[in-house]
Amino acid sequence: MKICVVGAGYVGLTSASVLADLGHTVSCVDTNIEKIRSLNRGEVPIYEPGLKEIISRNEENLTFSSEVIENIRNHPVILIAVGTPSLADGKTNLTYIYSVVDMIADALTDYKTIITKSTVPPGTNEKIYAKLLQKGVAPEQFAVVSNPEFLREGSALYDMLHADKIVVGMNKNDSKSLNIVKSLYKGIEAPYIVTTLSGAEMIKYTSNAFLATKISFINEIARICDKYEVNIDDVVRGISTDPRISPHFLNSGLGFGGSCFPKDVRSLEQSAIEKNITPIILQAIQSTNHSQIDYYIEKLITVFESLKGKTITVLGIAFKPNTDDTRESQAVYLIKKLSQLGCTINTYDPKATLPFLGESNIIQFPTLDQAVTDAECVIIATEWAEFLYLDWKKLKQLMKGNVILDARNCIDPLKAHEHGFQYVGVARS
Ligand code: UDX
Repeated sequence: MKICVVGAGYVGLTSASVLADLGHTVSCVDTNIEKIRSLNRGEVPIYEPGLKEIISRNEENLTFSSEVIENIRNHPVILIAVGTPSLADGKTNLTYIYSVVDMIADALTDYKTIITKSTVPPGTNEKIYAKLLQKGVAPEQFAVVSNPEFLREGSALYDMLHADKIVVGMNKNDSKSLNIVKSLYKGIEAPYIVTTLSGAEMIKYTSNAFLATKISFINEIARICDKYEVNIDDVVRGISTDPRISPHFLNSGLGFGGSCFPKDVRSLEQSAIEKNITPIILQAIQSTNHSQIDYYIEKLITVFESLKGKTITVLGIAFKPNTDDTRESQAVYLIKKLSQLGCTINTYDPKATLPFLGESNIIQFPTLDQAVTDAECVIIATEWAEFLYLDWKKLKQLMKGNVILDARNCIDPLKAHEHGFQYVGVARS
């Protein structure tokens, strides 16, 4: 099958390379000429385990181009994977989506199956369909399909190849499109969930909002446990044997970040408000998540009284381990807040680079050892494997103080105590 993937970002690149690996001929296009040039030089703009390898072994049938219209014209299947960032009011910016739709309308000379992979609010694919009609494209010339992705950064290739479902939203009785989608994913064993265009959009948002709910819920429970001196690990162990609850997404800590959860919860909130629904739960998820950082800072204040002038090392900058992505990272928000409170921040991350925060009292070091030297306190803000098994003796020698704030519940408090550290956690001691 000949596929044009529009957008060489995270979702576009991952989808294009997996589809090429499944044997399709894929052209991945982007209007960002620099990005396409670097991909053509063999450079991969994001860190995703296995992505570089899968791109290079599919050199023959995976090409990169900035000739967007020409490629749209020459391919019968168009997969839209452009960004859908947040606007200031929390709604979704659909400019990139609609500009691709305009290009499709201009380029269309024969039948196209237009598949939207980007996360878009309910009703958007219906609008894409209407827009194409409005631009004079005949209804028998195209089909619109909503096919959201459920990829986690850091395991995106695995997630796509071992999907737990393939969600397909389409207009009624569109068996032609369903067969095209099935041929696209031939080789991936997963149940198909077929629904309407808006149904598929809602599945994506509900999935992310539900996972975010689990995280904020367990974070709230952890705060309560903290006050009653109950260990949160025991509580999670106790509830997660119930298959209706499951053990997943119940790690309490600094809260969720990344390019999806915060943006999608905001967007779904706005979609609800637009229809006069007050989404109390969606709003509560966000407010708990925002206040997690303050809760951890309050814990530090109980130890140090004042944080002003303290040298604090924050380990981890990425929004989660195994990625270099710092978008809406709770670790970055924490660094910024600590710096505003007058701390000197030393930081280290195995892959991520600290975005510019405009503060002069923050330094990123290339190694963990350099970052912890002379620190009065070390905070684990992202649970990278490198931080799970710290060399306690060495850490003790390098640090000036002995306080460890475990903001991801990822180290053993007993080990820290054994080596003379003061372990600070929420509902863990
Ligand atoms: C998420 C969804 O999992 C994926 O299906 C969707 O397509 C895109 O959004 P991703 O953003 O890569 O994927 O990250 P994920 O692994 O889900 O974690 C999101 C955030 O939640 C991270 O900041 C992580 O640290 C946090 N998290 C996750 C917790 O705080 N506790 C948990 O138990 C799990």
